[in-house]
Amino acid sequence: MVFSIVLLFYFMFSTFTIISNAVELHTITTTQSLTDGQTMVSSDGTFELGFFSPSGSTSRNRYLGIWYKKISNGTVVWVANRDTPLTDASGGGVLKLTDGGILVLVNVNSTNTSFWSSSNSSSNNNIVNPVAQLLDSGNLVVRDANDENFLWQSFDYPCDTLLPGMKLGKNLVTGIDRHLWSWKSSDDPSKGEYSYGIDLRGFPQLVLLKGSVEKYRSGPWNGLRFSGSVGLLPNSIYTYRFVFDQQEVYYEYELINSSVFSRRVLNQNGILQRLTWNYKTQEWTVYVNTPSDNCDFYGLCQAYGICSIANSPVCGCLDKFGPRYPKDWGTADWSSGCVRKTPLDCHNESSNGFIKYSSVKLPDTRNSWFNRSMTLKECETVCLKNCSCMAYANIDIREGGSGCLLWFEDLIDIRELTEIGQDIYIRMASSELVSEVGSKSNRKMRKKVIVILALLAGVLVLGLTLALYVWMKKHQEQKLNRGESLDRGLEQCHTNESHKEDLELPMFDLSTIADATNNFSISNKLGEGGFGPVYKGILEEGKEIAVKRLSKYSTQGIDEFKNEVICIAKLQHRNLVKLLGCCFQGEEKMLIYEYMPNKSLDLFIFDQTQSKLLDWPRRFDIINGIARGLLYLHQDSRLRIIHRDLKASNILLDVNLIPKISDFGMARSFGENETGATTKRVVGTHGYMSPEYAVDGIFSVKSDVFSFGVLVLEMVSGKRNRGFFHPEHHLNLLGHSWRLFKEGRSLELVDAPLGEDSCCLSQVLRSIHIALLCVQQFPEDRPNMSSVVLMLGSGSALLQPKQPGFYTERTFPEIDYYTSSKQTTSSVNEITMTVLEAR
Ligand SMILES: *[C@@H]1O[C@H](CO)[C@@H](O)[C@H](O)[C@H]1NC(C)=O
Ligand SMILES: *[C@@H]1O[C@H](CO)[C@@H](O)[C@H](O)[C@H]1NC(C)=O
Ligand SMILES: *[C@@H]1O[C@H](CO)[C@@H](O)[C@H](O)[C@H]1NC(C)=O
Ligand SMILES: *[C@@H]1O[C@H](CO)[C@@H](O)[C@H](O)[C@H]1NC(C)=O
Repeated sequence: MVFSIVLLFYFMFSTFTIISNAVELHTITTTQSLTDGQTMVSSDGTFELGFFSPSGSTSRNRYLGIWYKKISNGTVVWVANRDTPLTDASGGGVLKLTDGGILVLVNVNSTNTSFWSSSNSSSNNNIVNPVAQLLDSGNLVVRDANDENFLWQSFDYPCDTLLPGMKLGKNLVTGIDRHLWSWKSSDDPSKGEYSYGIDLRGFPQLVLLKGSVEKYRSGPWNGLRFSGSVGLLPNSIYTYRFVFDQQEVYYEYELINSSVFSRRVLNQNGILQRLTWNYKTQEWTVYVNTPSDNCDFYGLCQAYGICSIANSPVCGCLDKFGPRYPKDWGTADWSSGCVRKTPLDCHNESSNGFIKYSSVKLPDTRNSWFNRSMTLKECETVCLKNCSCMAYANIDIREGGSGCLLWFEDLIDIRELTEIGQDIYIRMASSELVSEVGSKSNRKMRKKVIVILALLAGVLVLGLTLALYVWMKKHQEQKLNRGESLDRGLEQCHTNESHKEDLELPMFDLSTIADATNNFSISNKLGEGGFGPVYKGILEEGKEIAVKRLSKYSTQGIDEFKNEVICIAKLQHRNLVKLLGCCFQGEEKMLIYEYMPNKSLDLFIFDQTQSKLLDWPRRFDIINGIARGLLYLHQDSRLRIIHRDLKASNILLDVNLIPKISDFGMARSFGENETGATTKRVVGTHGYMSPEYAVDGIFSVKSDVFSFGVLVLEMVSGKRNRGFFHPEHHLNLLGHSWRLFKEGRSLELVDAPLGEDSCCLSQVLRSIHIALLCVQQFPEDRPNMSSVVLMLGSGSALLQPKQPGFYTERTFPEIDYYTSSKQTTSSVNEITMTVLEAR
């Protein structure tokens, strides 16, 4: 699905006329009124109230309104007398407050006739000392000087703008129903054709109307968002919520950082826009438009049609449904909608059932019925009993789903939403179900057949495998006899094809390397890799190199060593370490790499003083570099490689702090159509391994994605996942991050100096969010690296992460928190280790 967050610039009517603003008031009382030319300013200076004429209007009508003062001077957010302007431009308007606490606009040039007044819904009769005040939120309120409660507030009478803290919806007790109404045109604030508010028929949903015609529908609230609201995902700008109880039904949002301004406007063309203020360009930028695409238009594909923005044409019929008039559909006239291929038989309850449709925006709920305490099973039972019940679904999709929503009319306005859509169960004739899932009566029969078939297949596969194994063994022995010592089975990185012609690696002389490294002097040693020491060297021509020497005493390094040669020799990418050559002489086996003066990432991020050198913009560049390197390995390289041991110490930094993925000792290649494999020999590093790999030995590109997620969280927090300790709980870093994320406190995780730019805040939050998506428990919930790279590089909306893998609290922080039945041969921090399967 395409999140069409269009970043167009929005040119607002920036100039408008107020007569003079020499006098600024702070309150209006019964004795202090506001005349044309005076303004009232909120205490923090964000908003201003006064008389104005919209720019471009020739009539010079005067209106009382509220506009931004601190930023974007002139963006009007509220108009009192939008339908009753003062037509005389001579400045006779005065805003007065009556003894009863009612605001009135009078014209002093015309015998004080009133042309607007605030209603007073309050039943409070003993008002002593009313005052009117403009709050920092942009809310104009009237209250008694000695009472905090508002007698009246402009937030109850929105115009075209929904400000933070404003409620869009109905108070079921007082009856106040707040809708947005567009301006008639950019120079005429009177009520235009479009409105946006809550429709309370059936289960509440927000609807955008043109006159009385429905144009767009948000869909019902599902606990996380409105079912069809493409742009409503957790983000760094604003939080949002929907309240639906006995007293009130409303939607509202709040800014996360009150200096990052954002507002929602219903413009005169019927487009709902969320705009954010860009300090650099001094303009409002479109964050999201609604409707966002064709499929957002109400009922485009009519009854039982489904709109898929990726298709052409966008309209189709739901599975098991066909066009009512195929001829019309052939000409892209979808007005007749779709009908069941097999009509329902309503005389016989058992002749009906339900089919699940996934990943959709739920249909119009105006003719729906709901019960929040019923389970999905109860919901099905109730729906089955009444043949006009066409479908059912959960109300709340959080925590496995709860509540029951039933539809009693044809289903209309369904769209496909691949990533954020939800499930709905649609009534279907049993004959249609048989072919799909099997009716209840023959399900058992089918089960038996399946079991028998599976057994047969199992025996067959076992036989074949055995035969293949025997054949391979023989084959391998033959090869070994031929002395091809570099050759290994399919398990290794290369795929058994002649590696020799591919190994176009320069061979270095042992004496050259010995000279370069000062005869492997201890002072040249850079560190200890997985299978031996690494030395720094300088070749005669002055080139700096790093030499990885296979330890003579290493028992298990030889395979990894060969693997690395074969893997990396064929790879070339800016974010992968470059192999310059190798040296095989006698007992000695060495790999020669370009030298990385800044060593590895772990030396920076986990070190109190070094970490100060990596401010957030640098870290973000590094995260992006690693992501691109990994994407190359997974998708774009000739070999398609799963690294299997991604961690901070395997990320080297060159002189410009460009990250280079290194250490391919554990890497595996996989074919075009494969995505992963299972191994009995689990290698990797604690704290970075994904659950399915650490526990079951299943590895795939998604296990690298998991490690990447861990790495990002480590880079943000400056803490190792393994060995992470927090005084308040025993969660690991993933659990801790998740907890903060859920509580909206993600910023507390941040360790990096954030730098000057205001972009960093949202980047940090976005990186944490993406990292949490990468460390999901189930591989299928994790994005692949191409999505990660995209998400990092854009501002598009992100999915909501679920609880990450390895979330469980440790009872004792010292003990490995996921010790399973397998034996660990090593548990030293950060050292690549092998877990042997004890099966
Ligand atoms: C309008 O009201 C003001 C203040 O209440 C008063 O002084 C003035 O005489 C009134 N003008 C007319 C024409 O009634
Ligand atoms: C909702 O369902 C629960 C459980 O089935 C039931 O007890 C309750 O009476 C129902 N409420 C309504 C309003 O039907
Ligand atoms: C089925 O539900 C509809 C809508 O709630 C209702 O009007 C109708 O009476 C119900 N029919 C039966 C048989 O319960
Ligand atoms: C809010 O945003 C402003 C401007 O971008 C920034 O200077 C400030 O540090 C932010 N405040 C917080 C608490 O993040």
